[in-house]
Formats: sequence, structure tokens, C-alpha cells
Amino acid sequence: MELNQTNWTVEQLAELLALPDFSRMYAYADKINCQVHGDIIEIRAILEFSNICKRRCAYCGLNSQNSKVRRYRMSEKEIMETAIIAAEAGYRTLVMQSGEDDYFNRRRLGELVRQIKKQTGMAITVSCGEKSYEDYAWIRQAGADRYLLKHETADPDIYAGLHAGDALSNRLRCLKDIKELGFETGSGFMIGLPGQSLKTIAQDILLLKEIGCDMAGIGPFIPSPDTELKDWPAGSAELTKRAVALTRILLPDANLPATTALGVLVKTDKYSIFQCGANVIMRKVTPQKYEECYSIYPNQIEVRDIFKERKQLEQMIRGMGKIPR
Ligand code: 5AD
Repeated sequence: MELNQTNWTVEQLAELLALPDFSRMYAYADKINCQVHGDIIEIRAILEFSNICKRRCAYCGLNSQNSKVRRYRMSEKEIMETAIIAAEAGYRTLVMQSGEDDYFNRRRLGELVRQIKKQTGMAITVSCGEKSYEDYAWIRQAGADRYLLKHETADPDIYAGLHAGDALSNRLRCLKDIKELGFETGSGFMIGLPGQSLKTIAQDILLLKEIGCDMAGIGPFIPSPDTELKDWPAGSAELTKRAVALTRILLPDANLPATTALGVLVKTDKYSIFQCGANVIMRKVTPQKYEECYSIYPNQIEVRDIFKERKQLEQMIRGMGKIPR
């Protein structure tokens, strides 16, 4: 198989994912990443402003059936204050993420986006789930630059099984709307879901291309207590890295984050992903008192110091010989 081929079929991609030795592919993905993105690692702040969610995703600790979660919704004032601190600490992009919480309708969300942009100048990514075309249009009009909505899995049956019967087709409709409205469009998927094969992952990667993704978050599944999938094993870190590398080769321009989930899974060399095609990292700026409540999957809680964490991250990136931005 040609290394620099960009029209791989599902079968060819599945074959590549199964290579006994992937080092040549990693090197190629890294080369493309350096050619297109240079030595720069983009840092983004993520603010999880509400964990209230009406959906029932079988893998997610925040699903509406989970009564053990203490639910919270930050006030508009608190959201603004946190956004301003993030900007002061040096962040230039804010990802505003929440569960699917109807309180934050397009009017409220739009107003927040407008205010944060006005007061901080940060680029805004919204990550609040499935909405109507009109809602997305409103949020875009308010000034949101990007929208992040992972397709989670390209297999319609696996998708329906994990989402209480909801259809993949609606998720794809959303992504189409988002793209059409001129958002920088982010999707992504999980590695290690029940029923998934290498072929499914190959389809996931090709779907990113079909959507025309400007960003893609690829992370391993991590079992979350009090969910249907609590006993399902975590996804493979190696397979996650391979999927990121192949995505980099197929989507040279895309922003590919080192997902938090991968960092949770591999404690030791969690930054090796930056040699496999990733060029973005996210840091939480959610106020400490809410941190334990936003547990999509188990994660270690650290003492929150937005300024200190930003500095440490910049140091880590420089330590890798890269440039933080
Ligand atoms: N393990 C890994 N990732 C998860 N997500 C949700 N639940 C889990 C889990 N148990 C990811 C999904 C979602 C994003 C917010 O978090 O991909 O889009």
C-alpha cells in the first residue's frame, strides 16, 4: 500500500490499523503535522458550564438516568467571570461545553457567546449537543466560531444501541448544518465501543473526511461507574494513537487534540500523541467546586489554578521542543 495515498478504502484503512509495526505510519503522520502546523501546539480552555443533560448515552457518566450525579448549572455571571480569568491566563480559545440542558436555549447561549467575545476577544467553540438548524444559525450569528459535536461511532446500529434508539442520521444532519453555517466543524469518535471492529474505526476516519471536519477528537472509551457500560473494558491507547495518525494523514489541515480520555488512560507517556499527528491540547478552567460533578468518566481531580496550569502546560510543550499558542 502506498504511504502517501489519500484515497484509502475502508478495507485498506482497517488493514493499516492492524499493522504489526506502525512506526513508519507514525513518522509519516508526524511529518505531515510538522509540515502543516509547524512546531505549534494549540492550547484551548474548556469550561463545563452545566452538567444537566436530557440524553441517555450509555457510556456517559452524565446521562440523565444517572441519579448519583450532583447536577449544577453555572450562572451567567459565574461563566463570564471564569471566561475572563481564562483570557487573563493567556487562553485564546474557549470551548463552552455542557450537557444538553434546555435552560441554555439559543437566546441565553447566544448572549453568553456575544458577551465573552466582546469582553475577551477569545475564539469560541460551542459544544452543547444536537440542536435545530435555527438554533445553530442563531449561535453562529452571535459570533461562535466553532462547534464541536462528535459523531461517536459511524456504525448506525452501534450508535442507536448506545443512544437509547436515537439515530446517527440526526447527528449527521446536525454536523451538516454546522458545516453549512460556516462554523469550524469538529467531530470525533471513541475507540473500544462494544461491537466496534477495525472496519468500524476505518469508517469513523473516513466519515471525518466526508463531514469535512476542521477538528476531530479521537479518544478511548473509559468505563464510567453508574452507566450501562460500567463493566466494558477501556479502549486501546495504541489503537487510539493509530487512528489519530491515520486521520492526520487523511486530514492534514485538521486540528487534532490529544483527548483528555487518552491522558486518563496512559499516565506515563501521554504526550507521545504529539509525535503521532495531534496538535491541540485542552485544559479545564471549570471552577473547582464543580469539577467532581462533571465526571463523564473517572478522572483524577487536581487543584485548580488556572494561571499555574496554563504556565505548566506551556512549559511541558516547550520541553517537547514545541511552541505553545
Ligand atoms: N469514555 C470516553 N469518552 C467519553 N465520552 C463520553 N463518555 C465517555 C467515556 N465513558 C466522550 C464522548 C463525548 C465527549 C464529551 O466525551 O465522545 O462526545
